[in-house]
Amino acid sequence: MKELLETIRREALTAVSAAADPAALEELRVRFLGKKGQLTAVLKQMGKLAPEERPAMGQAANDVRAAIEAAMEKARTDLQAKALEARLRAETLDVTIPGRAEPLGHRHPMSIALEEIKEIFIGMGFDVLDGPEVELAEYNFDRLNADEGHPSRDWSDTFYFDTDSRVMLRSQTSPMQVRAMDARKPPIRIIAPGRVYRKDEVDATHSPMFHQVEGMVIDKGVTMADLKGTLNLMVEQLYGKGTVTRFRPHHFPFTEPSCEMDVQCHKCGGVGCPTCKGEGWIELLGAGMVHPRVLEMSGIDPTVYSGWAFGMGLERTAMRRFLISDLRLIFENDIRFLEQF
Ligand code: PHE
Repeated sequence: MKELLETIRREALTAVSAAADPAALEELRVRFLGKKGQLTAVLKQMGKLAPEERPAMGQAANDVRAAIEAAMEKARTDLQAKALEARLRAETLDVTIPGRAEPLGHRHPMSIALEEIKEIFIGMGFDVLDGPEVELAEYNFDRLNADEGHPSRDWSDTFYFDTDSRVMLRSQTSPMQVRAMDARKPPIRIIAPGRVYRKDEVDATHSPMFHQVEGMVIDKGVTMADLKGTLNLMVEQLYGKGTVTRFRPHHFPFTEPSCEMDVQCHKCGGVGCPTCKGEGWIELLGAGMVHPRVLEMSGIDPTVYSGWAFGMGLERTAMRRFLISDLRLIFENDIRFLEQF
């Protein structure tokens, strides 16, 4: 019987050390230690032994059981550790690998230029207004002193929605002057950027849709010197100190006197080239002192208040700012162009 116990121990330990997974271990437990297992079968024969032999044999059987159980327990932890290790290896994640760079977009040159212009005027205490692109003739023309028959009201220049020419795509941001005077009392200091529309053919300097920034100041004692000082300050902040401007007399129905402001051409430095059409100068904006009749129509007493206004082309400003030679590049959204800013 002693030998039988030893055989069971040897076979069990060999089998346990060879077990490949927990299921195999469980099978061995049943085979050796279970109710119908080999060890139990031996114990059942204890009765056949002489009474004095029983304690020693019982002890020996318990030792074998304990040895097998210990071996199984160790095998179970080893298998679990191995399984965990295999899983960790299979799920390896190298957190030190550098990430893949996502291509990031950035602001359009027009947005950058507009942002800069806004910053400049906000810094001088101006508010930024927004207004409708579908506008009424009342604001776009009538209250800007552009009477019936004024050339800019012509169907060949303006996009109208109705046959009476009362509703249109605004042809300028100047209606925002009127809207500002309707909404506010002097002192008024506003800029109003936005899209405007004219029936122009597309070329290097024209597009049927473009952007303007309107500006207006109304207060007591405002003069043309304030207008020139403010615009020169804007140009220097936008294009750098020493940027040369010139003011030329002009005509607008809603300003008196009126002028246009040019900036020296960035391509040729004033000598004349295709970008400035040989002029040496690039026209940037129209401006002037707000016409007394315009003030009056908006209920502001021109004997007490005066004001100035300007309207600048944003595309031209951006072109000068980023040295862009063709307006069409701004709208084509070619990534090779846009990536340069
Ligand atoms: N609205 C004018 C234009 O589109 C520009 C302008 C604005 C002129 C304000 C004078 C004052 O040409």
